[in-house]
Amino acid sequence: MWGGRFASGPAAIMAEINSSIDVDRELYRQDIAASKAHARMLARQRIISPQDARKIVHGLDKILSEIERGRFRFKPALEDIHMNIEARLTDLIGRAAGRLHTARSRNDQVATDFRLFVRDAIDALDAALALYQRTLASKAARHAATIMPGFTHLQPAQPVTFGHHLLAYVEMAARDRARFADARRRLNECPLGAAALAGTSFPIDRAMTARVLGFDRPADNSIDAVSARDFVLEALAAAAITAVHLSRFAEEIVLWTSPIVGFVRLSDKFTTGSSIMPQKRNPDAAELVRGKAGRIIGALNALMIVMKGLPLAYQKDMQEDKEGTIDALSALALGVAAMTGMVADMTPDAARMRAAAGVGHATATDLADWLVRRLNLPFRRAHHVTGRIVALAERDGLALVDLPLARMRKIEPRISADVFEVLSVERSVASRRSHGGTAPANVARAAKKWLQRLAKKPRR
Ligand code: ARG
Repeated sequence: MWGGRFASGPAAIMAEINSSIDVDRELYRQDIAASKAHARMLARQRIISPQDARKIVHGLDKILSEIERGRFRFKPALEDIHMNIEARLTDLIGRAAGRLHTARSRNDQVATDFRLFVRDAIDALDAALALYQRTLASKAARHAATIMPGFTHLQPAQPVTFGHHLLAYVEMAARDRARFADARRRLNECPLGAAALAGTSFPIDRAMTARVLGFDRPADNSIDAVSARDFVLEALAAAAITAVHLSRFAEEIVLWTSPIVGFVRLSDKFTTGSSIMPQKRNPDAAELVRGKAGRIIGALNALMIVMKGLPLAYQKDMQEDKEGTIDALSALALGVAAMTGMVADMTPDAARMRAAAGVGHATATDLADWLVRRLNLPFRRAHHVTGRIVALAERDGLALVDLPLARMRKIEPRISADVFEVLSVERSVASRRSHGGTAPANVARAAKKWLQRLAKKPRR
């Protein structure tokens, strides 16, 4: 393809390090779409003949179907997807194939293909995350009043509802989707026609190719168009944050499904056994979601490092942008699907969670709040008094609710019997009606709001 001035072929190791076909073959669909748009534009602008354009488009369609039917031989010697397809086009239609590369370069070609690829991945992830959110929200609606312990420092802190906890992940996923949508908005400019870096002397119509490929507009600076990879970095940053959120949830599932904790059970569909310990039921899917976060964050890190020292415009280093990105985006898609499956599959053990919610004097804050409300103590003072009552309960080996009134009065004589009303976990949870609080009424409303919002068609 570029051998005119070369007398011999590359050394074997040169060919090996140079070849990217094993990775960028994933971009065949986008490469063919961009080439078809380019050929049609060239004909419309009378840069090539309509007959040649027709042959080119027809040949490209044939190649697409060959690839999809597994009938295409990818050749490492042809370096990359662009040259593999062009070489096959030459086999199929002969000389006319050589006209396709008029007014373009592999530099704007790969930049266009990869934008299309990342855009498709973002769209697929958005749909997958929406389904994940719907699955979470419907489970949350069912468990708006299911009580569980809420933790800080992994110590029982205050009782919350299971539905409320699940909705926290719906909120995270909403921000993850918004980050992807934001990245997509900036990504959606078309590099095609920037050519190698300087633009072209042919009278091309960049607005047309941009429109046909679903871009909002052509990229305005040809040097930037072929050099920019921040669209990948942004998508990977959004992916890395999403992976962190999934990983935190995965960690909770691992914890919850441990028989030591036993808050949640996963069915046979989402667990595996041990080859030596017959009693085991391992949450491998959750562990793998947690593990995949490493690769996804790593891909962002790797590309940051590839890009940070590169002068303008295209440098071959940039060929390293694809492997980690493709891997990371598909690992994330798998992770989202696995989490969605586990959320649908999991059954909480309500009795066990309810019992655990009372452990560790989890309603101590409710006692402190009662002292503020009823006895008008400043909160700091109420906190101190409550601390002493908790210490007393601990000494007596009793839960806070079971501590006799007389014992409490030893610390604060004005405490009355109605204090017990706020010490039950049910009352504690029901009382947290502040905006965003865990009261079952709030949670039911929030879950419903999400389900309605998620039922609406996304606008784009
Ligand atoms: N395979 C190359 C890549 O992925 C395509 C661009 C090659 N451009 C070049 N001037 N050699 O970056």
